[in-house]
Amino acid sequence: MQTISRSEEQTAAIAARLARRLTPGHIVFLSGQLGAGKTFFIRAAARELGVSEPVTSPSFTLAQSYKGEVTVHHLDLYRLSAYSGDEDADLEPYFEPGAITFVEWPEPLADSFSPDVEVHMGHVSRISRSISITGGVDLKTVFEEPVADTGH
Ligand SMILES: Nc1ncnc2c1ncn2[C@@H]1O[C@H](COP(=O)(O)OP(=O)(O)O)[C@@H](O)[C@H]1O
Ligand SMILES: [Mg+2]
Repeated sequence: MQTISRSEEQTAAIAARLARRLTPGHIVFLSGQLGAGKTFFIRAAARELGVSEPVTSPSFTLAQSYKGEVTVHHLDLYRLSAYSGDEDADLEPYFEPGAITFVEWPEPLADSFSPDVEVHMGHVSRISRSISITGGVDLKTVFEEPVADTGH
């Protein structure tokens, strides 16, 4: 399913609603160009999952783990996508059954792990983003609940 988010608040609301439908063991892949809002989306989802510490981009470490109501792993594989040489990174521990794992730039994992949910984001304007989500959770309720329009 697909929608246009017209503000950060709308994106955060969609991310939070998706988060509520995730269960431990779920893997979420996020794709879309730089600045599309992948990290923003994950930050809002993690907050909804009870993560209170700041969620930052883990570009230089590949992965960051947070403790909320569940363990939340955030991987950003941009470096693996863009360059070679890091193929030996052992990412298996981040795909444990008790955790929810979000992956930005997931292409290097395509052959190793399959996502339960895929989020694709794209630029529409400075403050608008297309968001499309596919996967085995109840997406209707993620998209259908009214989204507050802040009037930006
Ligand atoms: N509607 C929107 N949804 C998500 N992010 C938005 C929106 N409008 C503006 N932004 C801004 O776009 C930027 C997205 O950055 P980021 O999440 O780091 O992108 P990515 O991880 O995809 O490279 C953030 O600065 C965010 O505040
Ligand atoms: Mg990012």
